Amino acid sequence: MLVYLDNSATTQPYKEVTQTVAECLAHNYGNPSSLHRMGIKAEKAVKAARKTIGDSLAVDENEIIFTSGGTESNNTAIFGAVNALKRKGNRIITSSIEHPAVLNVCKVLEEKGIDVKYLSVNDKGLIHINELEDYLNEETILISMMHVNNELGTIQPIEKIAQYKNKSEKLYFHVDGVQSYGKIDICPKSMGIDMLSFSAHKLHGPKGSGGLYLDHQIHIQPLIFGGQQEYQLRSGTENVPGIAGLGKAVELTFSDFHNRINKIREIKAYLIQGIKKEIKDIRINSYEDQRCAPHIANISFLGIRGEVLLHMLEQAEIYVSTGSACSTKKKSQSYVLKAAGLSGEEIEGAVRFSFSEFNDIEQMDYVLEHLKKNVKGIRKIMRK
Ligand SMILES: Cc1ncc(COP(=O)(O)O)c(C=O)c1O
Repeated sequence: MLVYLDNSATTQPYKEVTQTVAECLAHNYGNPSSLHRMGIKAEKAVKAARKTIGDSLAVDENEIIFTSGGTESNNTAIFGAVNALKRKGNRIITSSIEHPAVLNVCKVLEEKGIDVKYLSVNDKGLIHINELEDYLNEETILISMMHVNNELGTIQPIEKIAQYKNKSEKLYFHVDGVQSYGKIDICPKSMGIDMLSFSAHKLHGPKGSGGLYLDHQIHIQPLIFGGQQEYQLRSGTENVPGIAGLGKAVELTFSDFHNRINKIREIKAYLIQGIKKEIKDIRINSYEDQRCAPHIANISFLGIRGEVLLHMLEQAEIYVSTGSACSTKKKSQSYVLKAAGLSGEEIEGAVRFSFSEFNDIEQMDYVLEHLKKNVKGIRKIMRK
């Protein structure tokens, strides 16, 4: 039995998405900028996806800019805001557990003289919001905050953060929604979000496709210059198959949304309860209530290396992760779990299980059986 529990890294595309992308590549290959019928057909596919995404967020479709994914959206939002506002101020506030697609942008900006402040987090990865008050000053031009942390699943208090933002006009609020879009309710207008990044491959869409919601009232500088596509904010011929695939993924995700999400939440709870019952010396690193996204559970198996367990599970065709996909190839410890103050042993033994609607209870029983056996086996070897 193949059990894919690495859905925070990427997801299996819906079969309808695969069909849409293939159909588009084969039959809708016109350039949306072309004036003839084939161009118009391609433009229509882009327009339809824009409308679907706009509707899913209750925003105007013209507030959606297509990009190559979450990384580009984060780069566009942060560099774009700083370049537009740099005469008004010099400070950015973010958190210490952002994805590298934010942290490495901040690093570049720091080298250019921007003053970046990083909010610390508690032992579950929740920001200390009171620090925001300390860091906000006249110079602050941008707050960039992830909605859901990719390693722990912790949901940050976006609406509360937005209230601080309202105190200043020249302050933009960017949210990295890559792990939250399609997993929890997001309404940028009522939540006070100015910019929201999202990515298709995290919600059963194709890789290399994503977008940025940009409120009409927010003006940023483009990152990519050329033919002035995407409201002059992201030049380059549109990735029509990728955009159509993203639109299809969003359409399916948001049909019967709450039932899909509740199913994922139940499957996750079932696995956590099973682990608690069957395996001792563990630490549940994620919140177990509504403060955690439905699809992520981070658990430490003390006395073992998560990486060893990962490879043992792989033998049984069970796929999990020890941290974010980008950081695991580098042999360093998770900076997210470090920032949450976990001990070396807890960090070493951490495994991230991330779920999707394609998982079921039968799979979880299979995972539990193999987890129990392998954790026991590894601990036995370690004791020798
Ligand atoms: C929170 C977060 N932001 C950004 C990204 C980058 O998205 P993409 O892979 O689409 O570039 C990821 C991907 O893991 C993520 O989890």
